[in-house]
Amino acid sequence: MNAPPKAEMREQFLTLQEFVPAARAKLPPGPWSYLIGGAETETTVRRNRLALDSIGFRPRVLRDVSKMDSSAQLLSRKVRLPVLLAPIGGLESIVAGGAASAARGAAQFGVAQMLSSVCQPGLEATAAAADNLRIFQLYVRGDDAWVDDHVKRAIDHGYTAFCLTVDVAMYSRRERDLVGRFVKPWRATAPAGSSYQSGLSWNQVKRFKDKHSIPLIIKGIATAEDADIAVQHGVEVVYCSNHGGRQLDHGLGSAAVLPEVLKAVAGRAEVWVDGGFMRGTDIVKAIALGAKMVGLGRLPCIALAAAGVPGLVRALEILENEVQTCLGLLGVTSFAELTPQHLAPAPPVGEHDVFSAFPLLGEQ
Ligand SMILES: Cc1cc2nc3c(=O)[nH]c(=O)nc-3n(C[C@H](O)[C@H](O)[C@H](O)COP(=O)(O)O)c2cc1C
Repeated sequence: MNAPPKAEMREQFLTLQEFVPAARAKLPPGPWSYLIGGAETETTVRRNRLALDSIGFRPRVLRDVSKMDSSAQLLSRKVRLPVLLAPIGGLESIVAGGAASAARGAAQFGVAQMLSSVCQPGLEATAAAADNLRIFQLYVRGDDAWVDDHVKRAIDHGYTAFCLTVDVAMYSRRERDLVGRFVKPWRATAPAGSSYQSGLSWNQVKRFKDKHSIPLIIKGIATAEDADIAVQHGVEVVYCSNHGGRQLDHGLGSAAVLPEVLKAVAGRAEVWVDGGFMRGTDIVKAIALGAKMVGLGRLPCIALAAAGVPGLVRALEILENEVQTCLGLLGVTSFAELTPQHLAPAPPVGEHDVFSAFPLLGEQ
């Protein structure tokens, strides 16, 4: 598919919410449910939004915000916004080209992509698709030699950091997929390896850090206790996440857990976060709390499904505009000027679900 001209894309999508119906119209019911769904009652999905919506802003005024810089540092590299494309398994069922399309969009806009190990076209072909800032995320489904082989391949193909996702000791019950009888193509053909995932412990993290020097991210930390253990193991990034509410049901919202994780880490590692981030204001809240980077899961997938690579780039442009609007109205010109004093607990308003950040959708 040829990329539509930029002006046309800008006219078609003036807001992020417009990507949602466009994506829904493009995706078959199975992949759509897989994309938006969570575990069991989807309480964790809703709590991700509830936690973000329970934070309000304390704006400062008369501070000359005429020059704005919303760039950030990711592991000492400059990125255009403090966001990264979170790892998504099965992206190939959401957009033509799968992970390679996400890589191209990330490169064009100027943010990092974290590639999932259960995503096509695989780590070599995705690296060849774009000269982007990339990180590789592994589900451990093999022995130590199997893990080491992935580390070597990731380093050989220019991945800057390596991520182990650790909130998948059991594969959760995603009822939208079960009720819809959606069998993910990659699960039907994947080699057995779930016992390695259930058997994972901090011993493997220790072994990884003893053996490899590539920066290590542990994704799926949801308590201060585990954040502290991760830091004691020397990990470079503690990634606070509940997998977008897709694993443990009745978990806490990520933005609610973030303060205790930041306190436990106490500056000894970077803290990244994801879960329910759909808006520029959401990103500003996380950075003001102290996170260095925000992962976006469903949002970029929706943009990719709706309009391919140009759609992703357009969605990130709108997000950047929202971020800069928020920063300016808070009286700051960069993320570095944000502090927790720009935030206050606030009574949440309205409903909280996967698309509640886009309330106008309900009126269509
Ligand atoms: C369709 C889909 C597939 C995902 N696949 C993976 C994966 O392969 N590895 C992983 O660590 N996380 C995976 N996640 C979780 C995301 O990386 C991220 O933690 C989560 O989506 C963030 O929440 P959000 O979707 O509300 O932004 C997936 C999420 C979605 C929506």
